[in-house]
Amino acid sequence: MSQPTLSKAISRGLGFGMAFTGGLWVFITWQRRKHAKNESSSPGFWNHTSSISPYQSERKSTSSIGSIAAVAMGTHNLSIPTELPTEDARMKIFDQLSEIYDSSLQVDEFFLRMGKNRQFLIRKAKGLVLEIACGTGRNLNYYNEATVSEVHFIDKSPEMMHRLKNKPISHKKIFRSFTVGDVNDLKFKDDSFDTVVDTFGLCSFEFPEKALNEMIRVTKPGGQILLLEHGVGRWRVVRWWQKRHLHQHVYSWGCYFNRDILSFIENRADVSVTDIKRKHFGTTYLIQLTKNKQPLQTTPSEVS
Ligand SMILES: C[S@@+](CC[C@H](N)C(=O)[O-])C[C@H]1O[C@@H](n2cnc3c(N)ncnc32)[C@H](O)[C@@H]1O
Repeated sequence: MSQPTLSKAISRGLGFGMAFTGGLWVFITWQRRKHAKNESSSPGFWNHTSSISPYQSERKSTSSIGSIAAVAMGTHNLSIPTELPTEDARMKIFDQLSEIYDSSLQVDEFFLRMGKNRQFLIRKAKGLVLEIACGTGRNLNYYNEATVSEVHFIDKSPEMMHRLKNKPISHKKIFRSFTVGDVNDLKFKDDSFDTVVDTFGLCSFEFPEKALNEMIRVTKPGGQILLLEHGVGRWRVVRWWQKRHLHQHVYSWGCYFNRDILSFIENRADVSVTDIKRKHFGTTYLIQLTKNKQPLQTTPSEVS
């Protein structure tokens, strides 16, 4: 390629890149404005004149891609408490977040192709299903009526559940019950469900291991537990970034996004791991567990 042709190609490439980035930015801003427009306000935890915490209000006006860029460039200047919030405080964050949850996640999940991941997992649900920590019901679209007989929903946040119940799709016949309740206190007998679903719950529960025990308890032997979770990344630099922004993330989203998810499912006698996939630098986990018909015999370790 001659020199003028090369420089023309480079400048065309740069022009295209800039136009694409600009277009993307305009699209994200337009989407956010569109979805934020009709959101009402109510008294909140942080400030009784506004329902959104300072962190959430930053979240409302910026996409996470924008937030990541802002954080990376050090342009976010938030005074984040050094103490992590209590469970009660986090539940208030979830309650408040319910108002902007769908509109905030819509764009981020689009770019992360999270809808595809939700679909991949939820399409595996069969028979009698329990969805824990269902939030505003972002999985409702993906249940397959041909394979699922009933779905029962539980979430500890009344506001999240209210949003779910207000969605027209929640009136589908297979969606049977909507309970405001705690994963640690499920009012179901042992071995009740063919499938238990939890998306982004293990990062949100105060006691994730206890919650997983409870999910396994109510699953029938041979039944499955389907998990889509945030967790600690594969690479050291990603883990460092997650650790550095943990407080900001917990105060914005109520969840601990760098938990060691695999440590919760390793070496369990009551479940077998059927499938694990990790995406987004290893920070997104898609996990399928099967409850063992008989608890596995644990063999004494060779190394004592
Ligand atoms: C990050 S949101 C995930 C919502 C939804 N599953 C999704 O995929 O978008 C976490 C949810 O967990 C709920 N939650 C937190 N602690 C809980 C608990 N102990 N029992 C039941 N739900 C809980 C919150 O109210 C919130 O709706």
